[in-house]
Amino acid sequence: MRGLIDALRRERVLPRAELAGLIREISDGDMPYLFDAARETARSRFGNRIYTRGLIEFTNYCRCDCYYCGIRRSNSRAERYRLTQAQILACCAEGYALGFRTFVLQGGEDPYFTDDRLCAVVSAIRKNHPDCAVTLSVGERSHESYKRLFEAGAERYLLRHETADPAHYGRLHPASLSAAARQACLFDLKAIGYQVGSGFMVGSPYQTVENLVADLRFLQRLRPDMIGIGPYITHAETPFAGQKNGSLALTLRLIAVLRLMFPHALLPATTALGTIHPEGREMGLKAGANVVMPNLSPTDVRALYALYENKICTGEEAAQCIGCLRRRIESAGYRVAVGRGDVKRES
Ligand code: SAM
Ligand code: FES
Repeated sequence: MRGLIDALRRERVLPRAELAGLIREISDGDMPYLFDAARETARSRFGNRIYTRGLIEFTNYCRCDCYYCGIRRSNSRAERYRLTQAQILACCAEGYALGFRTFVLQGGEDPYFTDDRLCAVVSAIRKNHPDCAVTLSVGERSHESYKRLFEAGAERYLLRHETADPAHYGRLHPASLSAAARQACLFDLKAIGYQVGSGFMVGSPYQTVENLVADLRFLQRLRPDMIGIGPYITHAETPFAGQKNGSLALTLRLIAVLRLMFPHALLPATTALGTIHPEGREMGLKAGANVVMPNLSPTDVRALYALYENKICTGEEAAQCIGCLRRRIESAGYRVAVGRGDVKRES
């Protein structure tokens, strides 16, 4: 196994069977070796800097019906909310005062946010905070729509491919959605000039190791700037209620593998990772992740953006989350980077 880890670190690629072997068979005894290699790779590029992005979950209305997602259209129990432009700008102003220089606007595919409305929000943020980057994460839209948003000042876009295997994609989504359409959006975004983030859930229902290998190989084709992965976590009001959650160990192993494959990428230690284990995000950093995305949404709506159960930072502690996360980063031996956190693209 150590030979495979060394080869991946050196070459950044492994044949399909070796990659599957590494994911499936690495022993507990070899895990520290993998994590050390990933951590050293991150450290050689980024020192001990961790990038932060302020996350604003601005609408939980969604026209999609993804089987795994707690805010899917058919969840009639979800209490819906949508922030006004003024509320979004207030979140950004608060985030700015706290030191954030990137705002990530994430939401369901909410038809209320037409191109005109969303462009107005993006331009207003850029006008108020010219030294900040705006990232959008609002799902699948047309090439024209992505272009207009880019011209309005959004420079980054997060759209997880979810799973690269079309058949597996079909088991997680209704027939109206396809892996091909999602992947085409990612290539559109890249062609327009966005810095692109993609990624997948670890341990989603029916996922196999071969699916994960396909995900890694798809990412090698896409060459995204950011790769977000987190464990699948079940939600009672979805068709996947009662399915098993994804595993912490497998998520950490994949973060480390991704770090070796993509030394320059931004790899977030995600909220889902912090949800399945109280120290999940610190463990993610120690496995090679280099980004955290604290929640800047108003505290009274946070619990409503419930993609999965027991999501952290939604309760009484919400107001203190940012200070808490900063302390966690520092106690893990890292420091928070200042500025927009543009990272040089892989050559
Ligand atoms: N609507 C946008 C989109 O489709 O990209 C952004 C919002 S969507 C809720 C953001 C991500 O949440 C998805 O890409 C998915 O990977 C993740 N997610 C959804 N349900 C989840 C669950 N039950 N467990 C873990 N992650 C989940
Ligand atoms: Fe649309 Fe989850 S189904 S955000």
